[in-house]
Amino acid sequence: MDTQLNGKVALVTGGSRGIGKSIALAFAEAGAKVMITSRKAEACQEAAAEITAATGGDVAFVAGHVGKAEDIERVVGATMDAFGSVDILVNNAATNPYAGPVIDADLPRWEKTFEVNLTAPLAWTQACWKASMKENGGNIVNISSVGAFATSPILGTYDITKSALIHLTQQLAAEISPGVRVNAVCPGLIKTDFARALWDEGRGDQVAQSYPLKRLGEVEDIAQAVLFLASDASSWITGQAVVVDGGGLVAFAHLG
Ligand SMILES: NC(=O)c1ccc[n+]([C@@H]2O[C@H](COP(=O)([O-])OP(=O)(O)OC[C@H]3O[C@@H](n4cnc5c(N)ncnc54)[C@H](OP(=O)(O)O)[C@@H]3O)[C@@H](O)[C@H]2O)c1
Repeated sequence: MDTQLNGKVALVTGGSRGIGKSIALAFAEAGAKVMITSRKAEACQEAAAEITAATGGDVAFVAGHVGKAEDIERVVGATMDAFGSVDILVNNAATNPYAGPVIDADLPRWEKTFEVNLTAPLAWTQACWKASMKENGGNIVNISSVGAFATSPILGTYDITKSALIHLTQQLAAEISPGVRVNAVCPGLIKTDFARALWDEGRGDQVAQSYPLKRLGEVEDIAQAVLFLASDASSWITGQAVVVDGGGLVAFAHLG
């Protein structure tokens, strides 16, 4: 399988920590030039330095908010200036500001969740399409969630955005083929800051036992799936949502 990314330029949102940082590392190991972005410049700088030291690769960063149009333009522009193209985009950054029943969701937090988790991936895709992919082709991977396939007493708002992100993935895959492939990865529970409330203080042990593969996910489990979809090893796959969850979905093991 050819998962090498030599000569490719990859842009990873939310690349400063967690799953995004692991994806950036896997891409750099595969030979890609990588631009990472998140809101905090210092965290991006540290992640870029760490990945460069580990791989000897070409890793740059520009801080920005995924939901702000001027930041999208600035980051994509800086990527073009630094590396000359954007061949791979990973829409990884997400938010979950509200936990509770959807029936009680306040609309400002509902809209914030949609802005960051759904509108932003479209806006980043449009920016990369215009700047590079329309002309040169490319590859997009959207990070969804297993929550997209289930209901939840507390994560409903977030899960609806992740479900819509899969439909956006399918729609764009149909629209911008054959030059650009668009796929999604749907993680189960991974031990990151984002999901801390679900696994901290032993809470994850019960979830792990409910998974057929009897453990929670590691960031590398997701990064390797994203690398496969971003590389030529998956050259006949587009518009798909790949579940990486230790089998949790087939065992009806839900996150919360
Ligand atoms: N962890 C899980 O169990 C799990 C399960 C299913 C799906 N996922 C999905 O996996 C993806 C990554 O999650 P994670 O667990 O790796 O989270 P994480 O460890 O909290 O990392 C999130 C990253 O996104 C950045 N970020 C957050 N909000 C941002 C914004 N508005 N603009 C720009 N950057 C932003 C953060 O950096 P800054 O704070 O510097 O901005 C950080 O780099 C998300 O799409 C999440 O929905 C996670």
